[in-house]
Amino acid sequence: MGNKHIALTKPCSRNELTVSLLPKPTSANLGLLGWYGRSRRDLPWRRTCEPYRIWISEIMLQQTQVKTVVGRYGAWFEQFPDVATLAAASEDAVFKAWEGLGYYRRARFIHQAAKNITSEHGGNFPHHFDEIMALPGIGRSTAGAIASFCFGMPAPVLDGNVKRVLKRWSGGCGSSERQLWSRAQQFIDEAHDPAGWNQAMMELGATICLPRRAECANCPVAADCASAFQPLEAVAAKRTKVSNLYWQVQLYSCPERGIWLRQRPEDGIWSGLWTPPIIELPAAPAAQPLYIHQLTHRRLHLYAVEPEEPPAGEGRWAESLHAYAVPTGIKRLLERAG
Ligand code: ADE
Repeated sequence: MGNKHIALTKPCSRNELTVSLLPKPTSANLGLLGWYGRSRRDLPWRRTCEPYRIWISEIMLQQTQVKTVVGRYGAWFEQFPDVATLAAASEDAVFKAWEGLGYYRRARFIHQAAKNITSEHGGNFPHHFDEIMALPGIGRSTAGAIASFCFGMPAPVLDGNVKRVLKRWSGGCGSSERQLWSRAQQFIDEAHDPAGWNQAMMELGATICLPRRAECANCPVAADCASAFQPLEAVAAKRTKVSNLYWQVQLYSCPERGIWLRQRPEDGIWSGLWTPPIIELPAAPAAQPLYIHQLTHRRLHLYAVEPEEPPAGEGRWAESLHAYAVPTGIKRLLERAG
C-alpha cells in the first residue's frame, strides 16, 4: 500500500501542523484505485474517452445529480451527435434540450463553446489544457477531468466532492484553495493513471465520504485518513444558508392563443428561459404559495395570479409549451394552476 503516512488522530488547527507534515500524499495508494476498480458505478460517460461526450457529461454533472444526468445523457447526443450540430443549433433548441437539468447558464456556455471549437479549432475539441480551460463554462477542475479522462494528462479534479475528501484526509489542515490544489496536483503527479485517480477520488466523495455521513468502515483510505471514525460533527459539512424569494407569476391565458410567455433576462435566475411575466414581491404574502421551487441557495415561493387586463410589454402567445424551454418550477406551478 505504498508509503506509510503520518496518521493524525484528531483534526488539527492550522497552527499545529504545517502543510509539509500533513499525511504524505501518494497515489501509489493502490487501495483507492483497487477499490474504484471493484466498486465503481457503471455510468454512461465512463464508457467513453471521446472529448465531446466527456465534456457534456462534466458540464451536466456540475450542478445536476448523477441519476438525473443518467436519464438525459443519451438523448442529448441523439439531438446533437457532434460539436458541429450543436454549434449550428439555435439557442432556443439548446435551452429546450437542457430543460429539467437546471442552471441554464451552462447550456449557454456549452453552445458558445461549441461555436468556439468550430471557429477556432476547426471543429476538433482542443487537446491543450489551456485551450480546454479557455472554453466558456470550463474551469480548472472541469478542464482537469476532460484532460485526464480523454488525454491522460496529469491534471487534477477538485470539485466539491474531491475537496471534502482531501480536507478530511488531512484532518482539515491546509484547506485553503491554494493548498487543496497543491495537494491534488501532488497526488496526480504521482499517479500512474491520472484518469483513474481522478475518477476514484470523485467516486469516493460521491459514495463513501458523503457531506453529512462518512462511511469510514467501507473507505479504502481510512487507514491514512486523519478524520476516519471521528464523530460526525468533525466531518459533517455545514449547511449552506438558503434565502427565500416571493414571486408573483402572472398567468395570462386565452383559449385561442394559449399562454403569454416572456423570455427571462440574460442575468439572474432562469436567464434566457421562457416563463409567464414574474413580479418579485417585497415580502411573503399572507396566502400560501401555489408551489415552492427549491434551488441550491434559494427557495422560490411561487404565487399564481390571473390578471384581468391583457398582457403588455415584451412577450408572445404560446399555444403549447413544447417549443419553449420552460423552467421546471413554472411547469409544476402551471400543473397546479390547472
Ligand atoms: N461528477 C462530476 N464528474 C463526475 C464523473 N465523471 N463521474 C461521476 N460523478 C461526477
